[in-house]
Amino acid sequence: VRTDRPLIHYTPDRNWMNDPNGLVYHNGRYHLFYQYNPEAPEHAHMSWGHASSSDLVGWEEHPLAISFDEHEEVYSGSVVVDSTNSSGFGVDGATPLVAIYTSARGFHGLQTQALAVSLDDGMTWTKYDGNPVLDRGSMEFRDPKVFRYEHGDSAYWVMVAVEAFERQVLFYRSDDLKEWTYLSSYGPAGATGGVWECPDLFPLALDGDPDDIRWVLVISLYPGAIAGGSGSQYVVGSFDGTTFTPDSLLAVVDHGDPTALGQIDWVDAGHDCYAGVTFNGLPDAERTFIAWMSNWDYARNLPTSPWRGAMTLPRRLSLVTADGIPQLRAEPVTAAGAVVADISDVTLTNSLRLAGVAPAARVTLDATVPSASELTMRLRHDSSGEGGVVLRYSGATRRLELDRSAVAADIHGSFASIESIVLPDEGDRLELSILLDVGSVEVFADGGLRSLTDLVFESFDRGGLLLETTGEPVTIQRICIIDLTGGHA
Ligand code: FRU
Repeated sequence: VRTDRPLIHYTPDRNWMNDPNGLVYHNGRYHLFYQYNPEAPEHAHMSWGHASSSDLVGWEEHPLAISFDEHEEVYSGSVVVDSTNSSGFGVDGATPLVAIYTSARGFHGLQTQALAVSLDDGMTWTKYDGNPVLDRGSMEFRDPKVFRYEHGDSAYWVMVAVEAFERQVLFYRSDDLKEWTYLSSYGPAGATGGVWECPDLFPLALDGDPDDIRWVLVISLYPGAIAGGSGSQYVVGSFDGTTFTPDSLLAVVDHGDPTALGQIDWVDAGHDCYAGVTFNGLPDAERTFIAWMSNWDYARNLPTSPWRGAMTLPRRLSLVTADGIPQLRAEPVTAAGAVVADISDVTLTNSLRLAGVAPAARVTLDATVPSASELTMRLRHDSSGEGGVVLRYSGATRRLELDRSAVAADIHGSFASIESIVLPDEGDRLELSILLDVGSVEVFADGGLRSLTDLVFESFDRGGLLLETTGEPVTIQRICIIDLTGGHA
């Protein structure tokens, strides 16, 4: 059993947590609700837990927000700030926060969409007595993400939800959050090897150009993701208020063919970044994403106590052109930290060893790796240079591999894994930002155009970093280690 807690990632004080829910920025605070069992470290009695933050770095846990009861479990969903009181839930001038969640009747029961209301800025919630507000008679209809769609003079609420088994995203609209009209659907398309869950849809300015707005549809699925088990694909396209149209049509990939899965765009190509969604209530230029840092393959077996489940670092999203197409870029939000090593202009012909990788740290690397070179980085290895998390990069193929087999937990066949991603074509440049914490590693490559997030379970008295190269020399423009241990979650 591991009792050493992540230092810069949100974990609840105790018990089970999965998906982030109801991410909303309101009155100067970021609210993080989440799938939570108030009674035990197992997936049961699903309810919404609650934490909030003023800066996305330090989190304060609050009392249970929305509880399961004898009729329902409270599955994933979203929160909107109903500033025009379109729902009529506001009384005495209070702005209602409205949660739209999936009411689940038992594990194999009906799934409908339901509302809960807060009139005290998200601290306490009352379920709407007119629930459910949307019922398709389906047992797989869930995870509503609602946002305000504004276009010209018109403004209404749009709901994005899934028919999980049919691999479809459904779009609905409403004026008052209570009555919903079907608009359209998307899918099956792209990765369909598992049920679709937790969709999100949001606009981003391509390359920062306010006249070129693209819409990004994020779809989580389990199993069938690129690293195995849970993961999230995304599709770039347009949304006219009724229909989502992808920029290019995707073939259906319904099995684990790595080549076909590699053609799909993934929010993260690691094992442990699932059910991620973005905040309501922020300007589009500050689109911010948080995911559950786990995988349904082994989430129930994670050896931590007395909590089970952590969130990824919050990530600011943007959309940039790379390899000729719009791609998501994610930049992790952390405290500033203290620089503990900063080395520039080294020609690496063999190896370089650095000490001082703190339990929570950011390692950044800027290097030139010729096509005849391979670079290996071993993080938090032991005194003989063994163990730890290993990153391998080939200049010839631009493939970056994350290997956690030396720090695997003995909990599931797929945990001792290696996953990889091909970096966009930026010649021989390699740029990495690696976020280490107790129990996890998040690797962002090429400014966040690719990321790999993995849980790792290792011994934290180890603190070395070893860089090794074979082939032609590698030029290290800069390598920097920043201690983030002070930035508590
Ligand atoms: C995704 C998910 C959602 C569901 C929730 C239940 O991880 O399966 O589809 O709403 O978890 O906890």
